[in-house]
Amino acid sequence: MTNSRNAIIITIDGPSGAGKGTVAQIVAKKLGLDYLDTGAMYRAVALLVSRKTINIDDEEELKNILLKAHITFERNTDKRINIELNGEDITNKIRTPEISSLSSYLATKRVVRTKLKEIQREVGNKGSIVADGRDMGTYVFPDADYKFFMDATLDERAGRRWLQLKESGRDVALDEVKKEIELRDRQDSERSESPLHPAPNAVIIDTTNLSIDAVVEKITDIVGGNRQA
Ligand code: DC
Repeated sequence: MTNSRNAIIITIDGPSGAGKGTVAQIVAKKLGLDYLDTGAMYRAVALLVSRKTINIDDEEELKNILLKAHITFERNTDKRINIELNGEDITNKIRTPEISSLSSYLATKRVVRTKLKEIQREVGNKGSIVADGRDMGTYVFPDADYKFFMDATLDERAGRRWLQLKESGRDVALDEVKKEIELRDRQDSERSESPLHPAPNAVIIDTTNLSIDAVVEKITDIVGGNRQA
C-alpha cells in the first residue's frame, strides 16, 4: 500500500525508553526506507539553547534562535545517520541526561514544535520514511500509512536506559534514571501542545517482555504483508 506520493510513511511513537529508536532504525534498513529521529531534533534545539544565555520561557527569544538554526541529517561513511546543527556534528553531544530533560521541557513550547514539525513534514514529503517520536502518528503525519505505538513498563524502560548510559561510560544511579523518565513521561503526555498519546488507529506494542527482533518482526510483518497484498 502506498499513498498518492508513491512513498510510505511509517510512524513509531511512544514514551522514553520504549525502544523506538533501535527498532525504527532496523525497520527502516530492512524495508529500504529513510529513518527520521525526531527526538534528536528536539535534543538539537536543547543543545543550541543550552549554549546561549536566554530566558527559555520567552517565546520571542526562542523564535529568534530557531530562525537561525539549521538542523540536518547526514549519512556518514559507515552509512550511519549523524545529526548536524549549523554544520556541526552533534550526534554524540545530545544523549546526556541534561539534554534529555531540557529537550522534554522545550518540547512543551509551541514555537519549538511548529518549527520542527515544518522540517519533519518537509522530510516526509521527499520520500519514504520511518519516523519515531511522540506525535508522529497523531499530529505530524496523521495520514501515515502505518502507525505503531511502542510502550513498556516504567521499570523496564528505566532499566534499558540505565544500561545504555552505563555502556556509554556514564555511571548514573538506576533510581535517578527512573525519576528522570517519570518526569519526562509526565511532561510529554500532559503538555497542551501535541501531547504523547497513541493515534486511534495505531497498533500498540507492549515491548516489556519482547526482544528487539520480535518487535521488528511484528512491524515488518504488518507492513510487508500489506505491501504485498
Ligand atoms: O525520543 P527522545 O528521548 O530522543 O526525545 C527527547 C524529547 O523530545 C522527549 O522527551 C520529548 C521530545 N519529543 C517530542 O516532544 N516530540 C517528538 N516527536 C520527539 C521528541
